[in-house]
Amino acid sequence: MVPAPEECVHSSDDIVNEGRFASMDDPAYAPAVELVHVSKTKPVLLGDSVTQLQVIGDVSFSVPKGEILALVGPSGSGKSTLLRMMNRLEDPSSGQISLFGTDISSLDVRELRRRVGMVFQTPALIAGTVADNVSYGPRLRGEDCDPGECLDLVRLERDLLHRPATALSVGQQQRMCIARALANRPEVLLLDEPTSALDQTAANTVLDLVCRLNREMGLTVIMVTHLMEHARAVGTRVVLLVRGAKIEEGAANAFFASPATEIGRRFLQGELSNEC
Ligand SMILES: Nc1ncnc2c1ncn2[C@@H]1O[C@H](COP(=O)(O)OP(=O)(O)O)[C@@H](O)[C@H]1O
Ligand SMILES: [Mg+2]
Repeated sequence: MVPAPEECVHSSDDIVNEGRFASMDDPAYAPAVELVHVSKTKPVLLGDSVTQLQVIGDVSFSVPKGEILALVGPSGSGKSTLLRMMNRLEDPSSGQISLFGTDISSLDVRELRRRVGMVFQTPALIAGTVADNVSYGPRLRGEDCDPGECLDLVRLERDLLHRPATALSVGQQQRMCIARALANRPEVLLLDEPTSALDQTAANTVLDLVCRLNREMGLTVIMVTHLMEHARAVGTRVVLLVRGAKIEEGAANAFFASPATEIGRRFLQGELSNEC
């Protein structure tokens, strides 16, 4: 059992009570991210013929601003596919995804990816120094960026700025990738298994960081993980996905204390790992 990172002491209710997002009764309210009847099929080769396999089936949920959603489910349940659709690395076959009330298919893709940052399981490095990596987005747009400030946010020493990114440990590279996303001043951060390639100490550092960014910057986070102790450590909300279908959605505390469904209970017991 991984000890909960020290800084993760909030709950969904705390965030609502801090008034960090408009009341849901406000007519202007729109969740940070909303999925409505999203489905996705992918072509697979079966024998000699290509068949369309449904990997996401009619999934709807919303993520209020300021929440950390843990998107959990067995391997192959469609978590990465769902996350990738949120910044249009893939597009839904049907349904709609909105960012603060705007259909993301109507947004310029570069602007969408500035507003919705993404970090992958294996740190994705750009050839060059740490500074080159961190300032990548602003540089593409011809904007100024202080990479030192971005390293401060993820608690990496500024001494590292001029080192090749490949010289960092994997845990430092992962924090650098988060700094690169933050350089774009995103409104939502998508994390796909960000701790899976890390040892326990480095993983806890990343989990602490996620909580701190959420608490101090009000950043909305959607984190895919198959590690329940990591979901439990940071999540304020949970969506459970099994075989491409949403099985549960709700407050993290309630889900981990007492899942609403038999499938949820079996998942938490570790009984679903071979079913997808
Ligand atoms: N490029 C692809 N072509 C066809 N099927 C794919 C492709 N990528 C993923 N899949 C299938 O889609 C399903 C969901 O995959 P994925 O989103 O990676 O799940 P997870 O992240 O939960 O492990 C799996 O059954 C997987 O085999
Ligand atoms: Mg995945």
